[in-house]
Amino acid sequence: MLRSFGCKAKRRADQGRSRRRAPQTGSHLLASSLAGANSSCRAILFSCLTRVETMNQALQLLLERTSSPRLQQPAPSAEQLELLFRAALCAPDHGQIRPWRFLVVEGQGLVELGELYASALLQNNPAASTEQLRRAQAMPLRAPMIIVLIACLQEHPKVPEFEQIIAAGCAGHGILLAAQAMGLGAFWRSGEFCNNAVVANGLGLQENEKLIGFMYLGTPSQPAKPASRPAPAAFVGHWPPPGLEPTRPQA
Ligand SMILES: Cc1cc2nc3c(=O)[nH]c(=O)nc-3n(C[C@H](O)[C@H](O)[C@H](O)COP(=O)(O)O)c2cc1C
Repeated sequence: MLRSFGCKAKRRADQGRSRRRAPQTGSHLLASSLAGANSSCRAILFSCLTRVETMNQALQLLLERTSSPRLQQPAPSAEQLELLFRAALCAPDHGQIRPWRFLVVEGQGLVELGELYASALLQNNPAASTEQLRRAQAMPLRAPMIIVLIACLQEHPKVPEFEQIIAAGCAGHGILLAAQAMGLGAFWRSGEFCNNAVVANGLGLQENEKLIGFMYLGTPSQPAKPASRPAPAAFVGHWPPPGLEPTRPQA
């Protein structure tokens, strides 16, 4: 990007190219401004340009987020894990009550989690087949790490339970996005063991806590396929509907 400001001829060529591209992004416009600016303005504009580029990357991450169902070693490093949790803790949170906690499960812990699934299955269905039990045991082994997502619900005069669950869900979304930003893969699973008392007890959940998912994490074993997303228009309306007055309650 910066190199295009060194040479006048190349600058013109770049500007010509960017004119042909549509629509112009903020960074393209800033780049054009940089061309004619003096050195102090240039420094200010350059810092704006860097910020715009960062914003564009953030938007790109949001628009290109995809889950990675197939995961392999290595698991997130300690530094990456710290960043995943810092991203989780940026979730919108009415009243700053932090209605979440997380359990990191890896190594032998994944085997133990599989055992917990199998005993939960047996308690719910004593006739479960060997094959069903084997499948339950193997479930957590689909990734080198799982973060158990837990919503910690509390009585609050202004923040009802549903808001707290949404906030914890946003924390999970933060983990998904941060994982992708670092080149990791993640897949949020719930399944039958997410809503299971044996599993909840085995994981040490309290009465007021709710398992909201198992975030499988690792290194994607194949490049992510670009997901096809529906056009927003199918989900978006306007109120009042165009051409209609809102109905007001009679006095
Ligand atoms: C709370 C929650 C629970 C989920 N549970 C499962 C699950 O048990 N199994 C599954 O295949 N997908 C589950 N998903 C969906 C996947 O994580 C994933 O979002 C979906 O396959 C769409 O892929 P994408 O994230 O790349 O759009 C769950 C998502 C959420 C938010």
